[in-house]
Amino acid sequence: MSGLVLHPLNAPLIPLLGEWQGPGEGAYPTIESFSYGETLVFGHAGKPFVAMNQRTKERKSGVPLHAEAGYFRPQGDGSTELVLSQPSGIVEILTGSITETEAGVEVDVSSVGVHTAPSAKLVRETRRRYVVEGDTLTFDFWMAAMGEPLTHHLTSRLTRQG
Ligand code: HEM
Repeated sequence: MSGLVLHPLNAPLIPLLGEWQGPGEGAYPTIESFSYGETLVFGHAGKPFVAMNQRTKERKSGVPLHAEAGYFRPQGDGSTELVLSQPSGIVEILTGSITETEAGVEVDVSSVGVHTAPSAKLVRETRRRYVVEGDTLTFDFWMAAMGEPLTHHLTSRLTRQG
């Protein structure tokens, strides 16, 4: 996607652009805790959105786990929308803030809608936080699912590639 002029609305999200990799840990009251490896890629196409593609695998076996794809839609007033789809049958629409910091950027979004396919597990609410500090990206995820209130499910600490 290089060679394209960045749309000005994407400017606060520049610190996210590129590929990130690293380890993550997951937990939830209803399941066994687990470890995973994550690859996260952010790109742009000259339009007012930033595309995000994520894939994960189990740390030891390398077996693929969760994946997702979506778009950040920065609004130009310090807020952003995020639309996301997941092969587990879950679709999230979130809104929240983009905070530019000395070392990077912090994006904190909460769901305004979560839709689950008829056969998917029940998720009612989500929150996501992406914090870039230089070449480190920390991701945290909370969800209200399986009858539980909003509870932490994931944290990962990724390093910029290349
Ligand atoms: C890094 C991304 C993620 C990884 C590696 C991951 C991994 C896992 C694993 C290993 C389990 C337990 C076994 C299983 O049911 O497959 C699980 C359960 C679950 N995850 Fe995640 N997950 C991720 C992201 C998400 C997201 C974004 C959502 C919701 C939007 C989500 C919702 C759930 C639900 C609803 C369960 C079922 C809990 C239960 O059965 O009690 N996960 N996840």
